[in-house]
Amino acid sequence: MGSVEDRIRRLKAERNAVILAHNYTTAAVQELADFVGDSLGLAQMAAATDADVIVFCGVSFMGETAKILCPGKEVLLPEPEAHCPMASMCTAEQIRQMRARRPGHAVVGYVNSTASSKTEMDICCTSSNAVEVVANLDADKVIFVPDLNLGAYVASKVGKEVVLWDGFCPIHHAITVRQVRALAERFPDAPVLAHPECRADVLAEADFIGSTEGILNEAKASDAVDFIILTEVGMGHRLERECPGKRFHFPEQAVCTAMKMIDPESVLHVLETGENRVVLPDDVMKRAYKPVKRMTENGI
Ligand code: 13P
Ligand code: SF4
Repeated sequence: MGSVEDRIRRLKAERNAVILAHNYTTAAVQELADFVGDSLGLAQMAAATDADVIVFCGVSFMGETAKILCPGKEVLLPEPEAHCPMASMCTAEQIRQMRARRPGHAVVGYVNSTASSKTEMDICCTSSNAVEVVANLDADKVIFVPDLNLGAYVASKVGKEVVLWDGFCPIHHAITVRQVRALAERFPDAPVLAHPECRADVLAEADFIGSTEGILNEAKASDAVDFIILTEVGMGHRLERECPGKRFHFPEQAVCTAMKMIDPESVLHVLETGENRVVLPDDVMKRAYKPVKRMTENGI
């Protein structure tokens, strides 16, 4: 039989499968993945792979995004109940209503959203290209859904009118200025690297704001030894692996339980059985393709 890892390796070769994992998954999942990255990197990797099967170790909207980009491939979710709570904070119908109230506004949607809501977006973005996407957009007025904090951050960077939605990530939204200052007292020389899903007052304490991959690149480039990291704790694995000798300090409660549902056994299970395939209605896939594809091209 062999170990779980050996069986995964064997099945991967047999099925011509690739394993993609988000930076927030557990260390054990990241270690067996072919590629670990942020949402944009993973979507681009899914679009570029010549594998027949994509095992997507991430929350469900990430697997759906891969399926929208690659309708001919089989996309398997090791844990289909791993949903990002922010994704359900804005529906397609709500976007239609908002558009009717704000004619002339373009709709930019964070990729942390359902496949059906993506059908109503002009373009999607991730945290790593949200500013670029809105800046590149041929529109001066934008409705940004569903993340209030990312939308406010984008608005602070581009000279455009940005109408905000009231969605948020419960994990990032719960990080407070008080916590950041308490960490800064313990580690006074540590730069503060923050994800833009944090609240505006928290972002005001940061030395760098970026996606999970952006945070990693900043930590690699910096001469500092200690860092305060304002994002989900799973990010610690890659930071420690790729920045030897550096130390990373997180707000303790910043744990995304959905991401932690995935484990090596669930990866093996979908490879063995082919269960938990992402299936989306044809019309949703067709209508969501354009905004998602534009996202992978940074809206250029
Ligand atoms: P990144 O695209 O920065 O990896 O973020 C994804 C996410 O879900 C953040 O909470
Ligand atoms: Fe969603 Fe927040 Fe988890 Fe990211 S960290 S997947 S935004 S709940």
